[in-house]
Amino acid sequence: MELHYLPKVWKQGTDFLGTRYAILCGAMTWVSESHLVSAISNAGGFGVIAGGNMPPEMLAEEIRKTRAKTDFPFGVNMITVAPNFRSHIGVVVREKVPFAIFAGSIPSGKDIEQVKAAGAKVLCFAPVLALAKRLIKQGVDALIIEGNEAGGHIGPVATSVLAQEFLLNHITEIPVFVAGGIGTGEMIAQYLALGAAGAQLGTRFVVAEECIAHPRFKEAFIRAHARDAMPTTQFDPSLPTIPVRAIVNEGTQDFNRLQLELLTKVKSGEMTKEEGQVKLEEFWVGALRRAVIDGDIEHGSLMAGQSVAFAKKIQPVAEIIEELVAGAERNLAEMAKGNGSEVGNGLPPAFRPGLPIN
Ligand SMILES: Cc1cc2nc3c(=O)[nH]c(=O)nc-3n(C[C@H](O)[C@H](O)[C@H](O)COP(=O)(O)O)c2cc1C
Repeated sequence: MELHYLPKVWKQGTDFLGTRYAILCGAMTWVSESHLVSAISNAGGFGVIAGGNMPPEMLAEEIRKTRAKTDFPFGVNMITVAPNFRSHIGVVVREKVPFAIFAGSIPSGKDIEQVKAAGAKVLCFAPVLALAKRLIKQGVDALIIEGNEAGGHIGPVATSVLAQEFLLNHITEIPVFVAGGIGTGEMIAQYLALGAAGAQLGTRFVVAEECIAHPRFKEAFIRAHARDAMPTTQFDPSLPTIPVRAIVNEGTQDFNRLQLELLTKVKSGEMTKEEGQVKLEEFWVGALRRAVIDGDIEHGSLMAGQSVAFAKKIQPVAEIIEELVAGAERNLAEMAKGNGSEVGNGLPPAFRPGLPIN
């Protein structure tokens, strides 16, 4: 398909990532390894290795394996609260990974400096505008806003609201990528029209042919409806938990039981709040591995976003990406047509009032 609108509308994103398309496959622990990551990058998108809490040597090996399978850019996602976080920074620096993505919490200025000094561009998740401004001052090169429709650990605000807060002329200095609840190219076009530099998807790529997730994990995604991907709840503030969105199964009940058990121990003083939080997080690491790798879809964690509604069949990565690109291009063309104007620079003017149209 010949692209008329997209190359101009997401130019900021493709220039930044060095890709044909400004579509990222967000890191997914246990899922985003060299096969999926290289397939995404080879298909014109941007793949991201999930550092999770991998032993550092394994992460270095995964980077080398990815390099052996693609010459295109990719990144490494590091979780700031993971016990191996500091050694992951060391690996990213040593392996000269071109893009570092910090997740989990806000990285320190020192963390950002360290990877930038090694030549990496830095992307960070920004939960609120004030923090985004601080991250920009600290040298972050691009931001990701992720709404709570997304799979995995989530914040409290919907993607549509974050997009309005961040994109309507508030953050103009650096690219902003939008994630959470995106399943179609048409939706990508809408966020681009608001000013996004590109989009990040996770859930839809789980059912890619190249994804190494267990066939039962993929089947659970294909069977699920949007309403099946629910966030966990926190029972009491004395044991804070970050909500995790996953397809509801027996594992959800296991998590709830563990939370109640730990809560009782924290309240009675048998365990500190911090110890309780660590145990809760360990549940997710083990449970996600059991589901993704071993195929235990009853008791493992089926982390998935509401966009699971669009993960309907197993497809090669390239086909998924082409579908997304075609949908986005069609939607931008429709917007331009509906607007009744010849669009010189490829932007639908009614949707981006601040931008000059040549
Ligand atoms: C199974 C699974 C595991 C994930 N693991 C991580 C992770 O390790 N680090 C991270 O930053 N985001 C993680 N995410 C979030 C994705 O990178 C991505 O931002 C999210 O899936 C986008 O929303 P979507 O699920 O609606 O496509 C995970 C998501 C899923 C579904």
